[in-house]
Order: sequence, then structure tokens, then C-alpha cells
Amino acid sequence: MSDLRSKFLEVYSVLKSELLNDPAFEFTDVSRQWVDRMLDYNVPGGKLNRGLSVIDSLKLLKDGRELTDDEIFHASAVGWCIEWLQAYFLVLDDIMDGSHTRRGQPCWFRLPKIGMIAVNDGILLRNHIPRILKKHFRGKPYYVDLLDLFNEVEFQTAHGQLIDLITTHEGEKDLSKYSLALHRRIVQYKTAYYSFYLPVACALLMAGEDLESHVGVKNILIEMGTYFQVQDDYLDCFGDPKVIGKVGTDIQDFKCSWVVVKALELSNEEQKKLLHENYGKDDQICIEKVKELYKVLDIQVILPVYSFSFTFSGSNRFIKSLLLLHIS
Ligand code: IPE
Ligand code: MN
Ligand code: MN
Repeated sequence: MSDLRSKFLEVYSVLKSELLNDPAFEFTDVSRQWVDRMLDYNVPGGKLNRGLSVIDSLKLLKDGRELTDDEIFHASAVGWCIEWLQAYFLVLDDIMDGSHTRRGQPCWFRLPKIGMIAVNDGILLRNHIPRILKKHFRGKPYYVDLLDLFNEVEFQTAHGQLIDLITTHEGEKDLSKYSLALHRRIVQYKTAYYSFYLPVACALLMAGEDLESHVGVKNILIEMGTYFQVQDDYLDCFGDPKVIGKVGTDIQDFKCSWVVVKALELSNEEQKKLLHENYGKDDQICIEKVKELYKVLDIQVILPVYSFSFTFSGSNRFIKSLLLLHIS
């Protein structure tokens, strides 16, 4: 596994150096160094689960046989496109969420001399994806489908971000509008498609499959992605910043987080009033009051009991293997 990871990281260096020497732009030393530093800061520093899972999924689709070096390279390149997509969304997400840290370091836009240039850096990250795909996949039979898939998933994610952000206006008017169904809709679009469906869908295309015949796979991956974001919401509030590499902002940002939805469900009238008065205020005392209530309501204990409700035919070995892959 660590071997796969180091091979994967080698592909990052190749892709980066291609982008830094893209003949479509006449780089100066200064602009090349900017992009170089920006990529190193924002692209490879995460867990790399999404990127690596393209390779794992392709292996599963090839019935566990060893992949050729060429297959590994191409699966890695697509995997990196997902990591690039994630970096693009995160750079902009941190600005919009007013976050301070990400992956154990300050958010990119918080660095001196970066500021709102980070918005353009996000756009650059997004533009690198079709550059990578064009360079390495133009001749492949699945090239158009791959491009279309990235477009489709980006569209869904951007709309997930939209509803994540504008829902806070609804919440400010009336916190009781936050429901599990609303939460589910947000996280399905902002997280599940790009984090869980996209890597597997890429592998399916590379294996010569067409995506329309795998709707069952899609549904289960969306369930897994939803559960993943429930965990992310939980960690935003209860996680140790040293471990998760970021300090949560959901409470002061008025987010329709799984945690507040659960709290509303469990609160009596008095507790609801406390939430209404303190949720969404960028004030440490209010934040503490909300966290105190979460403690009283035992939210921390509920997560392990949260079970995801999906049905799938038990005979699908591919889905079973996928589940094991993501859970382990
Ligand atoms: C981010 O959602 C989703 C995307 C980047 C598309 P969050 O805002 O909940 O994620 P964190 O907690 O900042 O990582
Ligand atoms: Mn966000
Ligand atoms: Mn965020």
C-alpha cells in the first residue's frame, strides 16, 4: 500500500512539471514559481483517499489482477484530477466558510500576499484538470465520457456548495427549518458525488464500462458519501484539531450540520430556545453554550448508532469489495 502511495506521489511530480511547462502560457520565473508553490501547498497534502481509490477500484474491476505500469499511471493521473478538483473546491470553500486552518496549516488565502488571489488560484486548479486529461487521455475511447463525468460532478458539487451556503439564510430566519432531509440533500451534492461516486465512476470508464448500467453502484456510493459527511460534521464540532488538521466553523457559520439537526430533534422547548439564541454567532461564549448543550444531549454518543439505510443485492461482489475498501 505504501508502495502504491509513493508511486502515486511520483505521478504528481510528473503532472506538476507538465503543467509548469504548458506551452499554452509563456511562464515567467515568477509566475511559474507561484503556481509551483500553490500546487504543493494545496494539492498533495490530504489523505489522498479519493485519488488512491481510483487505482483500488480499477484493480477490483480487473478481478484483482495486478495492474500494468501503464494502467497504474493512468489511474493515478485520473486520481490526481480528483485531488485537483478537491483542492479547487477547498481553496474556495475555506474563503466562503471563513476557515483558518486546513490539513494542519493555515488556509491558503490566509497566507501573507495571497489573500483574494486565492480565488484565481482556485480557478487555475480547476483549469488544470482538462489540461491533464487532454495530455494523457485524448486518444482513449473513454476520453469524452471522462470529461463529461468531471463536468457533471463539478456541476453537482457547486450546487451542493450553493445550497450549503444559502441554507444558512433560511436557518437565520428559522432554525427549525433544518431537518435530516435538508441535510441529506446538501451533503449528497457537496460531498458524496465527488468524494465517493467520482473515483469509482472514473475506474468504471477506464475498465470500459458505461455508467448508465451501474446505477446501483452509484446509489450505494452516495450513501457512503453521506455517511462520510455526517462524520465530517461530527468532527467539525468534536474532533481534535491536531488530528483532523482544521478548526471547525459550522456553529458560528450557522451551518445545517448533522449535529445541529440531531440536537434540534432531541431538544425540549427550553433547549431549542438556547440554540436559537446562540447558534450562528461568531462569539466564543455562544459557541461554548451550543457545545455545552450538545454534551447534555449526548450527541457524541449517537453517531456510532447512526446507520445508513441502503439496500443492495447481496450478490454484488464488486459493491461488497468496495464497501470493505472504504470502511477499512
Ligand atoms: C466542503 O464541505 C465540501 C467541498 C469542498 C465541496 P465543508 O465546508 O463541510 O468541509 P470542511 O469541513 O471545510 O472540510
Ligand atoms: Mn463549506
Ligand atoms: Mn468548509
